[in-house]
Amino acid sequence: MSHTFKTILITGATGQVGYELCRSLSVLGAILSPNREELDLADAHSVDAYLAKHQPDLIVNPAAWTAVDAAEVNQEATARLNTALPAQLAQYARKTNAYLIHYSSDYVYPGTGQNYWLESDAVAPLSVYGRTKLGGDKAVVNHCLHYLIFRTSWVYSDRGNNFMKTMLNLGAQRESLNIVNDQFGAPTNARLIAEVTALAVYRQLASKPIDSGIYHLVCGGITSWYGFAEKIFELAKRENLPLLLNELGGISTAEFPTPAARPQNSKLNVSKLEGALGITLPSWQQQLEFTFNSYMNNKD
Ligand SMILES: NC(=O)c1ccc[n+]([C@@H]2O[C@H](COP(=O)([O-])OP(=O)(O)OC[C@H]3O[C@@H](n4cnc5c(N)ncnc54)[C@H](OP(=O)(O)O)[C@@H]3O)[C@@H](O)[C@H]2O)c1
Repeated sequence: MSHTFKTILITGATGQVGYELCRSLSVLGAILSPNREELDLADAHSVDAYLAKHQPDLIVNPAAWTAVDAAEVNQEATARLNTALPAQLAQYARKTNAYLIHYSSDYVYPGTGQNYWLESDAVAPLSVYGRTKLGGDKAVVNHCLHYLIFRTSWVYSDRGNNFMKTMLNLGAQRESLNIVNDQFGAPTNARLIAEVTALAVYRQLASKPIDSGIYHLVCGGITSWYGFAEKIFELAKRENLPLLLNELGGISTAEFPTPAARPQNSKLNVSKLEGALGITLPSWQQQLEFTFNSYMNNKD
């Protein structure tokens, strides 16, 4: 048994998940984490040359075009990052027998009904972002032999641009806020995604790999964006953060139109991943406390 990978390529290491992956995977192999200046992932030739030069035996790909509304008017650039790049990485992985871990989204599902989505359910994305992410999933499944695709949702972290930090900023500036209360999903912190990824990588190294395939990876429990905001402000008040906010209201999706349609039901069933790894994913509330505390400890 080999205890480490020779070279782990982590794309998008300046992003929420990529940053955490660099910490969590550091004991599992030598990490390469080029930033945008060092490797422009939009440039297929540069990506080919980088792979040929460094020959990674594990590629972890959290890089993506994640600006969901801007994707509607940047279809080509979005498709490059979200579909063509994973296809290119998958082809390299197949050719060299490398292992590929890729990340996908709740936005591949149509968002209808009340049931939790299973990985085997029919997909029907509502937006350019969702369609291009689905294209990436299909490319990895079709081209690659040894891979994992983790579909996650509502990603946030103590750094970067995300809902938790937006709420804290807005709460400091505004007396009232209306937040969408009819979209349901599980807020999932980047650190948890990285830790579960590390567990899966370790299983691969220990010759007890989990089967190649698509797995949902989200925190336990379900809330709305309103419920998520309510909990963020509860923690902010507990820490005596200076807030102007005195009124948090709920608003429907119809009352808050956006260029890209959002799924209303983003509830992802995690039984497949929990069974494969023998773990229970922690609740979103517990992970929010953990992430919020980390934000408090690290902010200026
Ligand atoms: N965020 C969410 O709510 C959410 C929800 C469900 C699924 N996901 C999926 O989870 C994964 C991780 O998301 P995240 O929130 O960690 O993403 P993120 O914070 O937006 O990070 C994206 C990363 O991709 C990099 N990138 C984009 N275009 C690039 C290019 N042309 N060349 C080099 N680097 C480029 C960015 O670099 P720069 O820093 O230079 O821009 C950044 O490091 C993605 O697959 C995403 O689709 C995210």
